[in-house]
Amino acid sequence: MSKKYNVAVVGATGAVGVTMLAILEERGFPVDNVYALASSRSAGKEIQFNDKTIVIEDLAEFDFKKAQIGLFSAGASISKVYAPIAAEAGCVVIDNTSQFRYDDHIPLVVPEVNPEKIANYKDHGIIANPNCSTIQMLVALKPIYDAVGIDRLNVATYQAVSGTGKEAIDELNQQSSDILNDEIISCDVYPKQIAFNVLPHIDVFLDNGYTKEEMKMVWETQKIMGDDNIKVNPTAVRVPVIYGHSEAIHLETKKKITVQEVNELYKNAPGITVLDDRNDGGYATAATESAGQDPVFVSRIREDISHPMGINLWVVSDNVRKGAALNSVQIAEILIQKYI
Ligand code: A2P
Repeated sequence: MSKKYNVAVVGATGAVGVTMLAILEERGFPVDNVYALASSRSAGKEIQFNDKTIVIEDLAEFDFKKAQIGLFSAGASISKVYAPIAAEAGCVVIDNTSQFRYDDHIPLVVPEVNPEKIANYKDHGIIANPNCSTIQMLVALKPIYDAVGIDRLNVATYQAVSGTGKEAIDELNQQSSDILNDEIISCDVYPKQIAFNVLPHIDVFLDNGYTKEEMKMVWETQKIMGDDNIKVNPTAVRVPVIYGHSEAIHLETKKKITVQEVNELYKNAPGITVLDDRNDGGYATAATESAGQDPVFVSRIREDISHPMGINLWVVSDNVRKGAALNSVQIAEILIQKYI
């Protein structure tokens, strides 16, 4: 019989944790026991996994010696405390928070881009999962980067509220219903109304005027591509969409590349679905194509009329799946195939 693994999911009741469990099940990950961990508030509640009833356990009480793999998605402060405890107990952590992403000794991995870095999990027993916006962008950029090089990119994101978590989905729904019913809205998760609005603000503001979400895209692109010279200029925007981030990306490549050549590259590129019919509706959108699906969709591929080396892309993907849970499970699959 093939080997099976005990997997702990930390943050199992959250937007990403629930999807991690669903994806482990969908992809037939060889799970022996699954441990669903959350706060003491959720301990004792039950969930279903592979037709079995699993009782949610309190993370603070869990003995990580029982698990070989830990999928963490309960926030950076939780990972800061518990990921080293898990790793010390021999449980390899795949961490979906920003806690370890910028540590030189911790691999930051998108399986379609730099799977070989998973080998470095041995340093600390931790592998970091990148930010959702970075993941889908790099899946789309990697074939172009390998073919002609990328000097610079401008990107504007249109990010779904599920990236903030369950409370943000509730806030969007509540505000939408309140507005339609002429009621007064309350803003608890976001600083301004998110329903029927667009906020040019994700995560905290930094001294250089960019937000941390924007700088994550800079730091993570350079680390994952292994190229400190790639110039990245992001604007991260929250939009009233529940699942699926969209990105308008303007690339300046090192050598000229045509639309036809980009399409050729994408034919064999892992994880990418091109949808670019240049007619009404012949493009991917967050809610209609990406929500609940695995691919990174690429549309609106155009040569930039303002720049000789410019190419434009519209890139859409489910932020909770490829942007978080699926990417983590793909890392776990490579980990068990090659390393543990
Ligand atoms: P709980 O539901 O018990 O609060 P989201 O990002 O969708 O808001 O989800 C956050 C996840 O992190 C939830 O599963 C939540 O569990 C979990 N979490 C939050 N705080 C803690 C904590 N102190 N210990 C363990 N898990 C936590």
